[in-house]
Amino acid sequence: MARITAGIGCSHIPALGVAADLGKAAEPYWAPAFAGFDFTRAWACAAKPDVVILVYNDHASAFDMKVIPTFAIGCGDRYAPADEGWGPRPVPVVEGHPDLAWHIAQSLILDEFDMTIINEMDVDHGLTVPLTMIFGQPATWPVKVIPLAVNVVTYPPPTGNRCWALGEAITRAVASFPEDLNVQIWGTGGMSHQLQGPRAGLINADWDQRFLDRLSGGSDELRRIPHIEYLRETGSEGIEMVMWLIMRGALGRRAREIHRHYHVPASNTALGHIILEPVKD
Ligand code: DHB
Ligand code: FE
Repeated sequence: MARITAGIGCSHIPALGVAADLGKAAEPYWAPAFAGFDFTRAWACAAKPDVVILVYNDHASAFDMKVIPTFAIGCGDRYAPADEGWGPRPVPVVEGHPDLAWHIAQSLILDEFDMTIINEMDVDHGLTVPLTMIFGQPATWPVKVIPLAVNVVTYPPPTGNRCWALGEAITRAVASFPEDLNVQIWGTGGMSHQLQGPRAGLINADWDQRFLDRLSGGSDELRRIPHIEYLRETGSEGIEMVMWLIMRGALGRRAREIHRHYHVPASNTALGHIILEPVKD
């Protein structure tokens, strides 16, 4: 049977991808941001996931104002890095897992989550930067990836509660797939950041750290944070953090923190990263 063995939370700061691609990760400004992933690269190598369900948001690369799916699942064979205006990132093509993805899509839809199904798309920094931070710069990515795109760009994004419940439904879906697969789920984006307007550059480290604190343990209070609190406390782009709640919801009642990294500033943004494992009751 397939099973979810771990969850990862990880920011997707595009400048970190550029720093890696240009060989600047060891420069003094970037080195502390990358250093917090040394543990993770070794851990991920040992954990050997077969598939990652990668919860992320597209930034007007695959979708724009013409089509805005709230939740969409990639059922394709592969996804190329998107051209975000300065050419595609020089990273490997992302290989999908169509059999598991279609199984999850069917299970979720019959479980009353009305997913959009994607067979073809390119993937932007929202998906490729977490892969770089966690796996480094391999010739091919060492896992199959099922992209799960969430609308956090155009109002209204889904509630944290709905995201958490989707995570719970993903666990049921994975557990009913007959093949023996080691599956991880990643929640990406965040942490506090605002990229435009009078509050551009806003970072709220106290709030971010409290969010990270509350991901482990047995409380599900994070699912009840209203949109307005993300907006007020973490800036207009801090709402990306609801995607972490899909990851957390998928880990079950209790989760244990394995590793944490928090660093400010990186680009305009707070960098947050956590590894969690489900705890069996
Ligand atoms: C930045 C952060 C993001 O999440 C994003 O999508 C684009 C830019 C930034 O920190 O610059
Ligand atoms: Fe973003």
